[in-house]
Amino acid sequence: MNCNMKKHHILLSIIFIMGWMQVAIGQKKQNDKQMDLFVANLMSKMTLEEKIGQLNLLSPFSRTGPFANIKLEEKMKDGNAGNLYAILGLPESVHNKLQYVDSTRMHIPFLSGLDIIHGFRTVFPIPLGLSCTWDIELIEQTARIAAIEATAAGYNWTFSPMVDLTRDPRWGRVMEGSGEDPYLGSQIASAVVRGYQGDDLADNTSLLSCVKHFALYGAAEAGRDYNTVEMNTLTMYEYYLPPYKAAIDAGAGSIMTSFNDINGVPSTGNKWLLTDLLRNDWGFDGFVVTDFNAIQEMINHGVATDYEQAAEQSLNAGVDMDMASESYIASLKNLLDEGKVSMKQIDLACRRVLEVKYKMGLFDDPYRNFNADSIDSVTLTSSHLEIAKKAALESFVLLENKNETLPLKKGNKIALIGPFADDQREMFSSWTLAGKSQKVVSILDGIKKLNPEVVYALGSQVIDDSLFLEKRRVRYDEAKQNELVNDAVSVAESADVIITVLGESSLMSGEAKSRTNISIPKCQVELLKKLKATGKPVVLVLITGRPLILSEVIPYVDAMVVGWRPGTEAGSAIAEVLFGEYNPSGKLTMTFPRSVGQIPIYYNHKNTGRPYEPGKTEQFVSNYIDAHNTPLYPFGYGLSYTQYEYSNLRISKPEISPTESVTVTMDVKNAGSIEGEEIVQLYVRDLVSSVTQPIMKLKDFKRVMLKSGQSESVSFTVTPEKLKFFNSELKEVLEPGDFHIMIGPSSSTFDTIKLTVKE
Ligand code: NOJ
Repeated sequence: MNCNMKKHHILLSIIFIMGWMQVAIGQKKQNDKQMDLFVANLMSKMTLEEKIGQLNLLSPFSRTGPFANIKLEEKMKDGNAGNLYAILGLPESVHNKLQYVDSTRMHIPFLSGLDIIHGFRTVFPIPLGLSCTWDIELIEQTARIAAIEATAAGYNWTFSPMVDLTRDPRWGRVMEGSGEDPYLGSQIASAVVRGYQGDDLADNTSLLSCVKHFALYGAAEAGRDYNTVEMNTLTMYEYYLPPYKAAIDAGAGSIMTSFNDINGVPSTGNKWLLTDLLRNDWGFDGFVVTDFNAIQEMINHGVATDYEQAAEQSLNAGVDMDMASESYIASLKNLLDEGKVSMKQIDLACRRVLEVKYKMGLFDDPYRNFNADSIDSVTLTSSHLEIAKKAALESFVLLENKNETLPLKKGNKIALIGPFADDQREMFSSWTLAGKSQKVVSILDGIKKLNPEVVYALGSQVIDDSLFLEKRRVRYDEAKQNELVNDAVSVAESADVIITVLGESSLMSGEAKSRTNISIPKCQVELLKKLKATGKPVVLVLITGRPLILSEVIPYVDAMVVGWRPGTEAGSAIAEVLFGEYNPSGKLTMTFPRSVGQIPIYYNHKNTGRPYEPGKTEQFVSNYIDAHNTPLYPFGYGLSYTQYEYSNLRISKPEISPTESVTVTMDVKNAGSIEGEEIVQLYVRDLVSSVTQPIMKLKDFKRVMLKSGQSESVSFTVTPEKLKFFNSELKEVLEPGDFHIMIGPSSSTFDTIKLTVKE
């Protein structure tokens, strides 16, 4: 093509795109108009009580509100419970409950929500595990499948994704998030929203997404759930807020407030957060729902004397829907009479809820994809299970592999030992509400399939910590433990290789499951030591919902793989990794500390005025006198059965203007003998800026499949966007000067090249 033809071609494309955009905008305006008319007409016929009912979300389990003694069915008939959640006992009961659409005066359909966190009947790895795939397309697929399955069971709303950035593995809910990085977290947040909602909310497999917990819940002090958050505004904007914003930009139709306060104001009554930032700055046009009972909890926060005052603050701050506290039905009418809230606000909140219902097509068909007869045929299908296996395979992170212990050779006599080695339910999490545990491939079954010679022993109870046992009413039996360990050792002695599956149970991570000791429980470590003493190679598969402190166990393992909580296809995926049918590719998205004392620890920290330089003995620098600064395993880390060599980092232009982009390239070679997929990571550092910057920030990554001996030049475009930061006026700016661009296999191993942005 000559130059003129090229120009002509580009011009035609621009005209075509602009034309198409105009049609799309025109169509949207038309649709919005129709929606406005429909909702206005409906609202003109609704009573005040019915409007308030739309602002109410109840479940048979919510027994906290002032009307807890009245049956949910009654509230639904009266129009007081406009939306439902956690109607379990699928699928008929969902159907039956939704029949009440016909018995309410206005026949307004219900939103029917559930915590669908990592799959519905087909269960995928926990979100933290999924994030370690760094496979955005795959993550989107898992959400799509969850939506197809959940809508078939009558649900139309999920309280997911949880996009709270987390730096403290003591917090039990790190399992529900995507780790510590805002860039990766944002990509995942939008992928999950796209997956749930699809291209069009009106599609009958579209599941309304509810982003949570707005905002900063992941920064609960000391990792203690529901605790206070202290954070400066720059940290908020630079690190914590981007994933929520990304989910909103991806079109999430609803957002949930968090339990914590921000700058002294609980999120649920925080006008700056819910109106100024969310609506005015970010342009959110869906509805805001509280977390469970959060309106009433403002009384405990000490900002309201009773639920009436709490409801007043919440509505005025921008909360549209009250989950479980019943404060809105109990008090909005009075508040209106007293002039403390306005009819305009009630109407606005009601309109936002009805608009979402309209966009979802619920007024045309409240049951949408639900079909009691077909639910079994559209859930747990072979294609869904295939994705569940792929997701599990890609989520595993190989942390240790001494003397190439892995992959194991088939035909060996395997001793499979540990409390999670033959437990189907334990492959799920505390957030698996609809998963079918009987469909889970246990690790024992998965291994047997590839290597029939396997002997199994339970080996240990899960936990012997006395306070845990007392608080959670769990039994631990010393005599039984001795027997279990002895049995396991004799099984191990007769084997060639020991695979031990240890870690945390599903009761130990998730909501309200914060821990201060995040090691593998003592009784399991004792078992591990005895197994190692047999002299056989020991492979440790970790089942966990959080980064654990592993320093103590490293001497006792030859290889170690983090399996997270892998879901329905757990056993088949773990077996494939252990026997080398899949070469592990996962990389950590949360730092694994050496000790609890290092927490909070994260890769994108500031340099400080007195940075510590390894090897130097200077005393008055930022370090511990009894511990290293570095973590045990850093962000982005993960081994493979092959070795990748990185070389020849180069840049298309060493100097650019503030509006230009550059290409940065590095050669990556698979220098080993096995094919593998490597996650190549790009980080940037702004060397001098008006506000202090982290030593590195992830700004891009690529998954590259390489055959043995194959080499590829991996290129990234560094756009001005990637060099920006929030300045002290909270404006996102690019300040000219020098930058370091780093490419490598993790946040601790990389090559660096300089880029100068000229004035
Ligand atoms: C409380 C949790 O914080 C939230 O994440 C969840 O969606 C609701 N309960 C409803 O189950």
